[in-house]
Amino acid sequence: MSVAKKEIKRITTHVLQNMKEQGEKISMLTAYDYSMARILDDAGIDILLVGDSASNVMAGHETTLPITLEQMIYHAQSVVRAVERAFVVVDLPFGSYQGNSTKALNSAISIMKESGAHAVKLEGGSEIEESVRRILSAGVPVMGHLGLTPQSIYKFGTYSVRAREEAEANKLREDALLLEECGCFAIVLEKIPATLGKEVAASVRIPVIGIGAGNGTDGQVLVMHDVLGITKDFSPRFLRRYLNLYDTIKEAINNYITDVKSGSFPSDEEQY
Ligand code: KIV
Repeated sequence: MSVAKKEIKRITTHVLQNMKEQGEKISMLTAYDYSMARILDDAGIDILLVGDSASNVMAGHETTLPITLEQMIYHAQSVVRAVERAFVVVDLPFGSYQGNSTKALNSAISIMKESGAHAVKLEGGSEIEESVRRILSAGVPVMGHLGLTPQSIYKFGTYSVRAREEAEANKLREDALLLEECGCFAIVLEKIPATLGKEVAASVRIPVIGIGAGNGTDGQVLVMHDVLGITKDFSPRFLRRYLNLYDTIKEAINNYITDVKSGSFPSDEEQY
């Protein structure tokens, strides 16, 4: 007897656009490896972001700047292998697109060709317009990222809330419209006032996904390690932790060490 395979409807840019139009919120989390991506996809997450936050949570760097294109491709390949339903977006890392649209195009093509991901994400607005347009002209979907853009941390000097001042808020409003006009399929807004997040989401037709941008955006994104409580020392106001895995894992490992040291593992049933 053959068992019917479960029909899985893949998330595409069109599905995401429909979700915005129907008022259905979009769920997005970061993922960097096969095993976690499999669980997140199975749970029904809409978008998996292979974020350059891998530089922090996977590699232990202080910022997102050191991670390379090759390392991002490695993480993206692992995630893509796990996914049956979610839409997979990959961050173009620092230095792979700024100031040179040919390099940007080549970086995006490498990611798409070598990982099988579905889209790329770039940080910035008018400064990277040429790169965004060239990548889009090659048929690669682009997600924008405005507000707090961690690749510019040394320019900002701090991870505090962005666009509180009118001039910066106006630039963000204009950049969002520009990214939409270029043809981006979605925009991430990071760490800005909730009123501005809501206003920008209402001003563009494409989905706007917030992280610390309030409840008025079309969806939310968080870093998976923060949501699961694997990271311990990062507690911004916008973060909701759903687990405290750091302590849970530590306790399990303590128990394992105790069992090995005492000789109670393996038991008679756990050997051949
Ligand atoms: O790299 C990342 O995790 C991100 C999210 C914070 C949106 O860009």
